[in-house]
Amino acid sequence: MVATNTNYDRKSEVKAFDDTKEGVKGLVDAGITEVPRIFHHPLEESETSSDSEASQFSIAVIDLQGLELGSLTKRKEIVAKVAEASKTWGFFQMVATNTNYDRKSEVKAFDDTKEGVKGLVDAGITEVPRIFHHLLEESETSSDSKASQFSIAVIDLQGLELGSLTKRKEIVAKVAEASETWGFFQIANHGIPVDVLEEMKNGARGFFEQDTQVKKELYTREHSRPLVYNSNFDLYSAPATSWRDSFGCYMAPNPPKPEELPEVCRDILVEYSKQVMKLGKLLLQLLSEALGLKPSHLNDIDCSEGLVLPSHYYPACPQPELTLGTTKHGDFSFLTILLQDHIGGLQVLPQNKWINVPPVPGALVVNIGDLLQLISNDRFKSVQHRVLANRVGPRVSIASLFYTGMLPSTKLYGPIKELLSEDNPPKYRETNVRDYVLYVHNKGLDGSSALSQFKL
Ligand code: OGA
Ligand code: NI
Repeated sequence: MVATNTNYDRKSEVKAFDDTKEGVKGLVDAGITEVPRIFHHPLEESETSSDSEASQFSIAVIDLQGLELGSLTKRKEIVAKVAEASKTWGFFQMVATNTNYDRKSEVKAFDDTKEGVKGLVDAGITEVPRIFHHLLEESETSSDSKASQFSIAVIDLQGLELGSLTKRKEIVAKVAEASETWGFFQIANHGIPVDVLEEMKNGARGFFEQDTQVKKELYTREHSRPLVYNSNFDLYSAPATSWRDSFGCYMAPNPPKPEELPEVCRDILVEYSKQVMKLGKLLLQLLSEALGLKPSHLNDIDCSEGLVLPSHYYPACPQPELTLGTTKHGDFSFLTILLQDHIGGLQVLPQNKWINVPPVPGALVVNIGDLLQLISNDRFKSVQHRVLANRVGPRVSIASLFYTGMLPSTKLYGPIKELLSEDNPPKYRETNVRDYVLYVHNKGLDGSSALSQFKL
């Protein structure tokens, strides 16, 4: 046996190396071409050869993008990857694509343009900027064929004005059924003439498509203004921005002076709100009866005292799969009457499946708001809904929200006493409308229901 190099004076060679105080880098800088023997490790063949089988594998790279958007599915997916890597390799790498962008300043820059989403589209963008990226749960975007068999009832109000008791009972029964289950229905022959509806849609569209400079003057987040135009009322609190611009005004109880309304749609706003107020009062009578109360009950407790009229403009979107027109939410109102155009995209979520609310010419969409769910002690449902972004557009809609919004309010609303019993104790604490609305505004449309916050 020979043992070349084995019995060399390792100790003194190591010491000499240490004394250079220049480390391995010093050797390399000096131009050595062979590894000195003090550095030789006795390596097993199996340890150094990189076999082809092993190199197929590699340490997982886990992308944390989306974690901050609060999606449960996304979080579960990331946790599963972390668990797997920790159980097997004990190592993983992390990246965070797009996670740490400065959302706040990008949102502010967008707000400062005062031109909303329409401004971006007019400027010719072909990609949806990242502040508009929503993290959509797989289950939320798939519409399964079974679910889409259902559709929202269209209730014909024809004959109601003739005073037939049988007819009225029949309609009240349908309204009750829809309000207790879907929280949504459409109404036909509601008494608002088709040309008023058409003019209202054209007027709202005209507002958004008027001269940009004139429109910019009205851009504000100041709720005390008679007219509020902006993009995303919850721009600074929502986790993702929606593909929508809006303008709104309080039409009751203190209607603005006509000159405070935008010229392009002044007359029709006044006319439409007058008619929609009358219809709202009628619907609240039917809803009172549907609850087994006297017809005037809901109007008597001032559910129709306030009318807020937001109009929405959903520009055509180059990448509709990345964003939403309106995030899932329940309305904060007692009652909402919605006028939508022919484009479509409104969906409701009565039982974990999205159902389309297809445009029906001449009809109006009615839905129960959070405050009516609260005072009906959950008998009526404020059902969550959203609007998809669409490659086609613009889509225009006008919502009539019956409630007093941000106006000062002291009146307390809680479950209606007449509806309560030993078997049906109150489920909510009392609140005034403004406190409720402030809570929702501060929260932003993040997909969760605001009502639960007021549960007893
Ligand atoms: C709303 C709303 C739906 C739509 O304004 O609350 O849900 O179709 N609008 O614009
Ligand atoms: Ni809504």
